[in-house]
Amino acid sequence: MLTERDGRGVVRVTLNRPDLRNAFDDELIGEATALFEALSTDGSVRVIVLAGAGKAFCAGADLNWMGRMVRYSLEENARDAAALATLFRVIDTCPKPVVARAQGAALGGGTGLLAVCDVVVAAEGLLLGTTEVRLGIVPAVISPYVVRKIGESAARLWFTTGERFDARGALRVGLVHRVVPEAGLDAEVEKVVAALLSGGPEAIAVAKRLAQTVGTQPLSEAIPDTVRLIAERRVSAEGQEGMSSFLAKRPPAYAKGDA
Ligand code: COA
Repeated sequence: MLTERDGRGVVRVTLNRPDLRNAFDDELIGEATALFEALSTDGSVRVIVLAGAGKAFCAGADLNWMGRMVRYSLEENARDAAALATLFRVIDTCPKPVVARAQGAALGGGTGLLAVCDVVVAAEGLLLGTTEVRLGIVPAVISPYVVRKIGESAARLWFTTGERFDARGALRVGLVHRVVPEAGLDAEVEKVVAALLSGGPEAIAVAKRLAQTVGTQPLSEAIPDTVRLIAERRVSAEGQEGMSSFLAKRPPAYAKGDA
């Protein structure tokens, strides 16, 4: 995996097994988990961009690795799958906004990776799919995140048929947010990054968690929780800075970039 960091606190993480279309094995899973854990607690990091080197974003699990698991016991297979589940959980709960830059293909676990990102910018021609049934397996570990994003109806269609779908199809169900020609992918990602750099980093972390949780809370919990949340943000240093800078017609101290 490659990591590049710029002066604005933007970290670009690139899956770097292009010859295997960035398919992930146990080594890459361990490396990515440790990296996202570290980025999650790094106060200097504002935005993470997740990309794939070469022709494809990510071809999912490395089928050589998964095939070798036939020699392992059920418990060993479960331990292995749990490591993958941890990776998805760590990215999903990362307090920093994660932007996917996706080209070529995002299949199986690659589609799962897109489902745990906050903003997905896709190149025209991107192929997605939960194709696991074609291999006699199931999109198990990724399913909570994929179903949460695309809903039961689309999940029933694509989990069972294993059909690939394109970026426009993914856009319709909310798995992808923007579709641009591949040549314009970096420019579009930069627009999203600039927008994310203009918000308060603490507010963005809270807003991300809010978007993930409030929809499944009963109103009896959501109302007091959200009342407390806004009260806390109003009196926070960041909230005070944001509101007073607006009234003073100056950029807030946390704003970087020109969005
Ligand atoms: N695991 C292991 N190797 C993989 C892989 C995977 N998931 N996906 C691709 N590769 C390997 C291919 O075997 C090939 O290896 P080779 O050069 O030794 O022959 C190499 O990556 C390039 O793949 P290729 O199919 O020639 O590239 P492409 O650009 O024409 O197509 C994909 C890219 C991703 C569309 C295609 O490789 C594919 O469909 N892969 C399988 C994806 C999948 O089913 N994932 C679900 C896993 S649960």
